[in-house]
Amino acid sequence: MTQHFLTLMDLDKGTLRHLIDRAIELKAIQKSGELFEPFKNRVLGMIFDKSSTRTRVSFETGMVQFGGHAIFLSPRDTQLGRGEPVEDSARVLSRMVDAIMIRTYDHANLERFAEYSDVPVINALTDMYHPCQLLADMQTYHEHRGDISGKTVAYIGDGNNMCHSYMNAARQYGFTLNVAVPEGFDPDAALLKETGHCVNIFRKPEEAVVGAHLVTTDVWASMGQEEEQAIRAERFTGYQVNDELMALADKEAIFMHCLPAHREEEVSASVIDGPQSVVWDQAENRLHAQKALLELLLTKK
Ligand code: CP
Ligand code: NVA
Repeated sequence: MTQHFLTLMDLDKGTLRHLIDRAIELKAIQKSGELFEPFKNRVLGMIFDKSSTRTRVSFETGMVQFGGHAIFLSPRDTQLGRGEPVEDSARVLSRMVDAIMIRTYDHANLERFAEYSDVPVINALTDMYHPCQLLADMQTYHEHRGDISGKTVAYIGDGNNMCHSYMNAARQYGFTLNVAVPEGFDPDAALLKETGHCVNIFRKPEEAVVGAHLVTTDVWASMGQEEEQAIRAERFTGYQVNDELMALADKEAIFMHCLPAHREEEVSASVIDGPQSVVWDQAENRLHAQKALLELLLTKK
Protein backbone atom coordinates (compact mmCIF):
# COMPACT_ATOMS: atom_id res chain seq x y z
CA MET A 1 0.00 0.00 0.00
CA THR A 2 1.30 3.44 -0.88
CA GLN A 3 2.00 5.52 2.23
CA HIS A 4 0.33 8.92 1.97
CA PHE A 5 0.50 11.82 4.43
CA LEU A 6 -2.92 13.44 4.37
CA THR A 7 -3.24 14.00 8.13
CA LEU A 8 -1.09 13.35 11.21
CA MET A 9 -3.18 10.21 11.76
CA ASP A 10 -1.54 8.55 8.71
CA LEU A 11 1.64 7.86 10.69
CA ASP A 12 1.96 6.11 14.01
CA LYS A 13 3.22 7.89 17.12
CA GLY A 14 6.68 6.32 16.95
CA THR A 15 7.16 7.38 13.33
CA LEU A 16 6.03 10.93 14.12
CA ARG A 17 8.60 11.11 16.93
CA HIS A 18 11.27 9.68 14.63
CA LEU A 19 10.49 12.47 12.12
CA ILE A 20 11.39 15.12 14.73
CA ASP A 21 14.74 13.45 15.49
CA ARG A 22 15.49 12.96 11.81
CA ALA A 23 14.56 16.56 10.95
CA ILE A 24 17.03 17.75 13.60
CA GLU A 25 19.73 15.48 12.11
CA LEU A 26 19.03 16.62 8.55
CA LYS A 27 19.20 20.23 9.72
CA ALA A 28 22.63 19.60 11.24
CA ILE A 29 23.85 17.87 8.05
CA GLN A 30 22.66 20.78 5.92
CA LYS A 31 24.24 23.37 8.20
CA SER A 32 27.54 21.48 8.26
CA GLY A 33 27.79 21.95 4.50
CA GLU A 34 27.91 18.21 3.86
CA LEU A 35 26.11 17.15 0.68
CA PHE A 36 23.45 14.52 1.25
CA GLU A 37 21.81 13.62 -2.05
CA PRO A 38 19.93 10.33 -1.72
CA PHE A 39 17.24 11.27 -4.26
CA LYS A 40 19.14 12.07 -7.44
CA ASN A 41 16.74 12.10 -10.40
CA ARG A 42 13.72 11.75 -8.11
CA VAL A 43 10.92 14.22 -8.77
CA LEU A 44 8.25 15.80 -6.55
CA GLY A 45 5.14 17.20 -8.26
CA MET A 46 3.70 20.21 -6.41
CA ILE A 47 0.08 21.14 -7.10
CA PHE A 48 -0.94 24.53 -5.69
CA ASP A 49 -4.58 25.65 -5.92
CA LYS A 50 -3.83 28.33 -3.29
CA SER A 51 -0.96 30.76 -2.69
CA SER A 52 2.15 29.82 -0.75
CA THR A 53 5.56 31.15 0.21
CA ARG A 54 6.92 28.77 2.88
CA THR A 55 5.42 25.53 1.61
CA ARG A 56 6.50 25.96 -1.97
CA VAL A 57 10.01 27.13 -1.19
CA SER A 58 10.62 24.54 1.53
CA PHE A 59 9.49 21.56 -0.58
CA GLU A 60 11.33 22.76 -3.68
CA THR A 61 14.52 23.54 -1.77
CA GLY A 62 14.31 20.24 0.12
CA MET A 63 14.15 18.24 -3.11
CA VAL A 64 17.06 20.18 -4.61
CA GLN A 65 19.16 19.65 -1.46
CA PHE A 66 18.39 15.93 -1.74
CA GLY A 67 19.75 15.94 -5.30
CA GLY A 68 16.29 15.70 -6.86
CA HIS A 69 13.88 18.07 -8.50
CA ALA A 70 10.45 19.62 -7.92
CA ILE A 71 7.86 20.74 -10.46
CA PHE A 72 5.47 23.58 -9.59
CA LEU A 73 2.00 22.96 -11.05
CA SER A 74 -0.70 25.62 -10.86
CA PRO A 75 -4.29 25.27 -12.06
CA ARG A 76 -3.69 28.27 -14.32
CA ASP A 77 -1.46 26.25 -16.61
CA THR A 78 -2.35 22.60 -16.10
CA GLN A 79 -5.34 20.67 -17.43
CA LEU A 80 -6.50 20.23 -13.81
CA GLY A 81 -7.50 23.89 -13.96
CA ARG A 82 -9.52 23.19 -17.12
CA GLY A 83 -11.50 20.40 -15.52
CA GLU A 84 -9.46 17.24 -16.18
CA PRO A 85 -10.74 14.83 -13.51
CA VAL A 86 -8.71 14.48 -10.33
CA GLU A 87 -8.71 10.69 -10.79
CA ASP A 88 -7.14 10.97 -14.26
CA SER A 89 -4.60 13.56 -13.19
CA ALA A 90 -3.56 11.41 -10.23
CA ARG A 91 -3.03 8.33 -12.40
CA VAL A 92 -1.06 10.23 -15.04
CA LEU A 93 1.16 12.24 -12.69
CA SER A 94 1.92 9.26 -10.47
CA ARG A 95 3.28 7.36 -13.48
CA MET A 96 5.89 10.08 -13.94
CA VAL A 97 6.87 11.58 -10.60
CA ASP A 98 7.96 9.94 -7.33
CA ALA A 99 5.74 11.86 -4.92
CA ILE A 100 3.05 14.52 -5.16
CA MET A 101 2.36 17.42 -2.82
CA ILE A 102 -1.05 19.13 -2.99
CA ARG A 103 -2.41 22.38 -1.54
CA THR A 104 -6.10 22.70 -2.25
CA TYR A 105 -9.49 23.65 -0.78
CA ASP A 106 -11.65 20.57 -0.26
CA HIS A 107 -9.96 17.81 1.77
CA ALA A 108 -12.12 15.23 -0.06
CA ASN A 109 -10.43 16.17 -3.34
CA LEU A 110 -7.05 15.42 -1.81
CA GLU A 111 -8.32 12.05 -0.57
CA ARG A 112 -9.70 11.27 -4.02
CA PHE A 113 -6.35 12.16 -5.60
CA ALA A 114 -4.50 9.93 -3.13
CA GLU A 115 -6.86 7.05 -3.82
CA TYR A 116 -5.83 7.08 -7.49
CA SER A 117 -2.14 7.84 -7.01
CA ASP A 118 0.48 5.08 -7.06
CA VAL A 119 3.02 7.35 -5.37
CA PRO A 120 2.91 9.05 -1.95
CA VAL A 121 0.62 12.09 -1.73
CA ILE A 122 1.39 14.82 0.84
CA ASN A 123 -1.18 17.28 2.19
CA ALA A 124 0.38 20.73 1.87
CA LEU A 125 -2.80 22.34 3.33
CA THR A 126 -6.50 21.85 2.76
CA ASP A 127 -9.42 23.71 4.32
CA MET A 128 -9.45 20.96 6.95
CA TYR A 129 -5.80 20.22 7.84
CA HIS A 130 -2.21 21.47 7.59
CA PRO A 131 -0.15 18.51 8.90
CA CYS A 132 3.23 19.55 7.41
CA GLN A 133 3.10 22.72 9.50
CA LEU A 134 2.68 20.62 12.63
CA LEU A 135 5.80 18.58 11.85
CA ALA A 136 7.77 21.85 11.84
CA ASP A 137 6.00 23.13 14.96
CA MET A 138 6.73 19.94 16.89
CA GLN A 139 10.38 20.03 15.84
CA THR A 140 10.61 23.67 16.91
CA TYR A 141 9.09 23.01 20.32
CA HIS A 142 11.49 20.10 20.80
CA GLU A 143 14.51 22.24 19.90
CA HIS A 144 13.53 25.03 22.30
CA ARG A 145 11.95 23.18 25.22
CA GLY A 146 12.37 19.40 24.76
CA ASP A 147 9.65 16.78 24.80
CA ILE A 148 6.14 18.21 24.33
CA SER A 149 4.33 15.21 25.82
CA GLY A 150 2.52 16.09 29.02
CA LYS A 151 2.72 19.82 28.25
CA THR A 152 -0.13 22.28 27.62
CA VAL A 153 -0.63 24.12 24.33
CA ALA A 154 -3.04 27.03 23.93
CA TYR A 155 -4.44 27.67 20.46
CA ILE A 156 -6.21 31.04 20.31
CA GLY A 157 -8.49 31.87 17.37
CA ASP A 158 -10.33 30.22 14.51
CA GLY A 159 -11.32 26.53 14.58
CA ASN A 160 -9.64 26.09 11.19
CA ASN A 161 -7.12 23.80 9.43
CA MET A 162 -4.34 24.75 11.87
CA CYS A 163 -6.58 24.17 14.86
CA HIS A 164 -7.60 20.76 13.49
CA SER A 165 -3.99 19.73 12.95
CA TYR A 166 -3.14 20.84 16.51
CA MET A 167 -6.01 18.63 17.71
CA ASN A 168 -4.50 15.65 15.91
CA ALA A 169 -1.05 16.57 17.20
CA ALA A 170 -2.39 16.60 20.76
CA ARG A 171 -3.44 12.96 20.53
CA GLN A 172 -0.38 11.86 18.54
CA TYR A 173 2.29 13.67 20.58
CA GLY A 174 0.49 13.43 23.92
CA PHE A 175 -0.14 17.02 25.02
CA THR A 176 -3.21 18.88 26.28
CA LEU A 177 -4.66 21.40 23.84
CA ASN A 178 -6.71 24.34 25.11
CA VAL A 179 -8.58 25.99 22.25
CA ALA A 180 -10.05 29.47 22.79
CA VAL A 181 -12.54 30.14 20.02
CA PRO A 182 -15.58 32.43 19.68
CA GLU A 183 -18.96 30.76 19.39
CA GLY A 184 -19.78 29.95 15.78
CA PHE A 185 -16.13 29.26 14.84
CA ASP A 186 -15.64 25.99 16.71
CA PRO A 187 -13.46 23.26 15.23
CA ASP A 188 -15.05 20.30 13.45
CA ALA A 189 -17.53 18.55 15.76
CA ALA A 190 -16.60 14.98 14.76
CA LEU A 191 -12.89 15.67 15.31
CA LEU A 192 -13.67 17.28 18.64
CA LYS A 193 -15.50 14.14 19.70
CA GLU A 194 -12.53 11.96 18.73
CA THR A 195 -10.02 14.18 20.54
CA GLY A 196 -12.14 15.09 23.58
CA HIS A 197 -9.70 13.30 25.91
CA CYS A 198 -6.93 15.82 25.15
CA VAL A 199 -8.71 18.91 23.77
CA ASN A 200 -10.58 21.52 25.86
CA ILE A 201 -12.72 24.30 24.37
CA PHE A 202 -12.81 27.75 26.01
CA ARG A 203 -14.59 30.96 25.11
CA LYS A 204 -12.15 33.11 27.08
CA PRO A 205 -8.52 33.24 25.84
CA GLU A 206 -7.48 34.30 29.37
CA GLU A 207 -8.63 30.91 30.68
CA ALA A 208 -7.15 28.86 27.83
CA VAL A 209 -3.61 30.20 28.25
CA VAL A 210 -3.24 29.57 31.98
CA GLY A 211 -0.16 27.39 32.46
CA ALA A 212 0.40 26.98 28.69
CA HIS A 213 3.93 26.06 27.58
CA LEU A 214 3.23 26.96 23.96
CA VAL A 215 0.82 29.66 22.78
CA THR A 216 -0.15 29.71 19.13
CA THR A 217 -2.63 31.39 16.83
CA ASP A 218 -3.47 31.75 13.15
CA VAL A 219 -5.16 34.28 10.89
CA TRP A 220 -8.83 34.99 11.50
CA ALA A 221 -9.73 34.67 7.80
CA SER A 222 -8.02 31.82 5.98
CA MET A 223 -7.40 31.52 2.24
CA GLY A 224 -10.79 31.34 0.57
CA GLN A 225 -12.48 33.41 3.31
CA GLU A 226 -11.19 36.81 2.22
CA GLU A 227 -14.68 38.26 1.86
CA GLU A 228 -15.42 37.40 5.52
CA GLN A 229 -12.40 39.37 6.76
CA ALA A 230 -14.36 42.32 8.19
CA ILE A 231 -17.04 40.31 9.97
CA ARG A 232 -14.44 37.91 11.34
CA ALA A 233 -12.27 40.78 12.63
CA GLU A 234 -15.32 41.91 14.58
CA ARG A 235 -16.21 38.44 15.92
CA PHE A 236 -12.61 37.71 16.98
CA THR A 237 -12.20 40.93 18.95
CA GLY A 238 -10.62 39.99 22.27
CA TYR A 239 -8.84 36.95 20.80
CA GLN A 240 -5.55 38.71 20.09
CA VAL A 241 -2.40 37.14 21.49
CA ASN A 242 -0.72 40.11 23.16
CA ASP A 243 1.55 40.81 26.14
CA GLU A 244 -1.33 40.71 28.63
CA LEU A 245 -2.35 37.25 27.41
CA MET A 246 1.21 35.90 27.29
CA ALA A 247 1.68 37.06 30.89
CA LEU A 248 -0.96 34.51 31.97
CA ALA A 249 0.85 31.58 30.33
CA ASP A 250 3.74 29.63 31.85
CA LYS A 251 6.71 31.96 32.37
CA GLU A 252 8.80 29.80 30.00
CA ALA A 253 6.08 29.81 27.32
CA ILE A 254 7.04 30.25 23.67
CA PHE A 255 4.89 31.72 20.89
CA MET A 256 4.35 30.22 17.42
CA HIS A 257 2.43 31.29 14.30
CA CYS A 258 2.42 29.33 11.05
CA LEU A 259 2.59 32.64 9.10
CA PRO A 260 1.65 34.70 7.22
CA ALA A 261 0.63 36.85 10.22
CA HIS A 262 -1.50 39.96 10.52
CA ARG A 263 0.15 42.11 13.19
CA GLU A 264 -2.30 43.79 15.58
CA GLU A 265 -5.09 41.43 14.51
CA GLU A 266 -4.56 37.87 15.83
CA VAL A 267 -1.17 38.78 17.36
CA SER A 268 0.40 42.01 18.59
CA ALA A 269 3.71 43.08 17.04
CA SER A 270 5.20 43.04 20.55
CA VAL A 271 4.55 39.29 20.85
CA ILE A 272 5.42 38.07 17.35
CA ASP A 273 8.55 40.24 17.27
CA GLY A 274 9.29 39.74 20.97
CA PRO A 275 11.57 37.44 22.99
CA GLN A 276 9.08 34.56 23.40
CA SER A 277 8.45 34.25 19.66
CA VAL A 278 10.13 31.40 17.75
CA VAL A 279 8.34 32.00 14.45
CA TRP A 280 11.48 32.28 12.30
CA ASP A 281 12.87 28.98 13.57
CA GLN A 282 9.41 27.53 13.03
CA ALA A 283 9.32 28.75 9.41
CA GLU A 284 12.83 27.43 8.73
CA ASN A 285 11.92 24.06 10.15
CA ARG A 286 9.34 23.55 7.41
CA LEU A 287 12.36 22.72 5.25
CA HIS A 288 13.98 20.23 7.62
CA ALA A 289 10.79 18.55 8.81
CA GLN A 290 9.53 18.04 5.26
CA LYS A 291 12.89 16.64 4.18
CA ALA A 292 12.49 14.06 6.94
CA LEU A 293 8.97 13.35 5.66
CA LEU A 294 10.10 13.07 2.02
CA GLU A 295 12.91 10.73 3.04
CA LEU A 296 10.45 8.52 4.89
CA LEU A 297 7.91 8.41 2.06
CA LEU A 298 10.43 8.00 -0.77
CA THR A 299 12.30 5.16 0.89
CA LYS A 300 9.31 3.32 2.36
CA LYS A 301 8.46 0.17 0.45
N1 CP B 1 2.63 28.41 6.84
C1 CP B 1 2.48 28.20 5.53
O1 CP B 1 2.00 27.14 5.09
O2 CP B 1 2.90 29.22 4.74
P1 CP B 1 2.67 29.40 3.18
O3 CP B 1 1.18 29.65 2.99
O4 CP B 1 3.51 30.58 2.80
O5 CP B 1 3.08 28.16 2.47
N1 NVA C 1 -5.31 28.96 8.12
C1 NVA C 1 -4.44 29.54 7.13
C2 NVA C 1 -3.09 28.90 7.16
C3 NVA C 1 -2.10 29.46 6.18
C4 NVA C 1 -0.77 28.75 6.20
C5 NVA C 1 -5.08 29.38 5.76
O1 NVA C 1 -5.62 28.30 5.48
O2 NVA C 1 -5.04 30.33 4.99
